[in-house]
Amino acid sequence: MRAAFVGAAFGFAAVALSVLGYVTGVNVAGSPPAVTVLQAGAAPRGAALFAANCAGCHGAAAQGAVGPKLAGLVRPWTDTAFADAVLDGRAPDGRTLAAMMPHFRTAGFDGSAPTPAQLTALHAYLKGL
Ligand code: HEC
Repeated sequence: MRAAFVGAAFGFAAVALSVLGYVTGVNVAGSPPAVTVLQAGAAPRGAALFAANCAGCHGAAAQGAVGPKLAGLVRPWTDTAFADAVLDGRAPDGRTLAAMMPHFRTAGFDGSAPTPAQLTALHAYLKGL
């Protein structure tokens, strides 16, 4: 009983410390930065989809690698234009993208064609970079 109370009190103190650390910007409890969690919460699926399917060629922050930089580039594109590029390799200016850029309609995300909701989440994530 007493041990449980002490444990609970310690747990509460740890939470209070990390909240205090976050609020004041001081990492008192040595916890991982709360900001990362908040950012991931803003567009969790888009970020995860990008990391799993695109980052290998376009860079972890879409800064460009084997594939071109996407940060900034796709911001003004409509969702339809973005979907055309990702699903079928067609750029908004009419270019057919080089074969190295997968056609995700057939390549799929994890084996199945991307859903409109996934494409919107992915586009939203990229527009925020
Ligand atoms: C195997 C490597 C590879 C992967 C994986 C890949 N891409 Fe690409 N991507 C490329 C290359 C290379 C190009 C440039 C093609 C060209 O210029 O003809 C490209 C071009 C593009 C373009 C057009 C850019 C422009 O110049 O207008 C977009 C948009 C794009 N990729 C988005 C994505 C997204 C979103 C994903 C993940 C769902 C992805 N790509 C995954 C290699 C890749």
